[in-house]
Amino acid sequence: MASTGLVKLNGASSQWLGQQSFNSHVGSSTLFTTRRVSMPIRATSSSYTDELVKTAKIIASPGRGILAIDESNATCGKRLASIGLDNTEENRQIYRQLLLTTPGLGEYISGAIMFEETLYQSTTDGKKFVDCLRDENIVPGIKVDKGLSPLPGSYNESWCQGLDGLASRSAEYYKQGARFAKWRTVVSIPCGPSALAVKEAAWGLARYAAISQDSGLVPIVEPEILLDGDHPIERTLDVAERVWSEVFYYLAQNNVMFEGILLKPSMVTPGAEYKEKASPETIAKFTLQMLRRRVPPAVAGIMFLSGGQSEVEATLNLNAMNQSPNPWHVSFSYARALQNSVLKTWKGRPWNVEAAQKALLARAKANSLAQLGRYSDEGESDEAQTGMFVKGYTY
Ligand code: 13P
Repeated sequence: MASTGLVKLNGASSQWLGQQSFNSHVGSSTLFTTRRVSMPIRATSSSYTDELVKTAKIIASPGRGILAIDESNATCGKRLASIGLDNTEENRQIYRQLLLTTPGLGEYISGAIMFEETLYQSTTDGKKFVDCLRDENIVPGIKVDKGLSPLPGSYNESWCQGLDGLASRSAEYYKQGARFAKWRTVVSIPCGPSALAVKEAAWGLARYAAISQDSGLVPIVEPEILLDGDHPIERTLDVAERVWSEVFYYLAQNNVMFEGILLKPSMVTPGAEYKEKASPETIAKFTLQMLRRRVPPAVAGIMFLSGGQSEVEATLNLNAMNQSPNPWHVSFSYARALQNSVLKTWKGRPWNVEAAQKALLARAKANSLAQLGRYSDEGESDEAQTGMFVKGYTY
């Protein structure tokens, strides 16, 4: 029998404190001795607990989802190159300004994930981006991982870097106004996935989630299962179940509070090169089956990534998942499926900014309706039906 005594030393952070006393049974007699053994037990409450739950609930509010604009400078450069712009800090700022100052965005968008550069940037008129977001009731978020690197000993797979110094970086991000974080790691089906790669992905996500919660940031847990491959949907389901069971195992081991996290899964689809496409109804059926089997209802929200699907596909699939009530808020955290039309409308021309902001608002509204299960693709443009899939996509 064990009894636990917790002492709260400092309200601002969870600390390793407390003792457990054990009755040890000696031999076969009924002799019991009480030994006091010092055990490190993590305090379950920190001063951030209530705030984390509140932040997660705001982000997971009905009819709203996340705008992901946290592309690394290299990936943002590819977006800009697609419309003939150079990858300069100024161009990145102007593009992000267009997105983050869209009037009325907060009706459909509850959170925006930024790259570190953007979190500290302001508009060309000197208003901090975090203040632009707050004025629209949008929660500022920050990508905290440091990208992917080859994983030695695996089948040519990768792991995600960024745990070193994460606690101090997160504290700074909180001071700057961020209230949630994102860590994206990937799992590749054609490359295996190996047990090593899955374990590494799950462990890294769990360590990051614990550190984020300690710093007052709601962690988005994102093990992206890449669309690459020619496998059927059943194979994706199998891998997704493996990955999420391991992720939740390590989240629990790291004492992560489930009410204060958000998930960013890939939808369960066939591989991008599989011979047949699946319908939104099939994707919804497989994806929800996987989530119901693996995700506790305590989790506040499931915010899907788009993964290279077209804007319309990503919205139709989300809509199909919201045709009946779910235990969690089921919504979006799209990058490509919210930015594609915007970029093509803007083309880097100042006189197109208003039209591009309208295009963003239209996509955000479509996904808001899909979150509520009320979207129809009637009248969608051909452009919005074009996918942005890239093999081995990095962020
Ligand atoms: P996509 O919606 O483009 O897949 O974005 C992935 C991502 O992780 C954004 O945060």
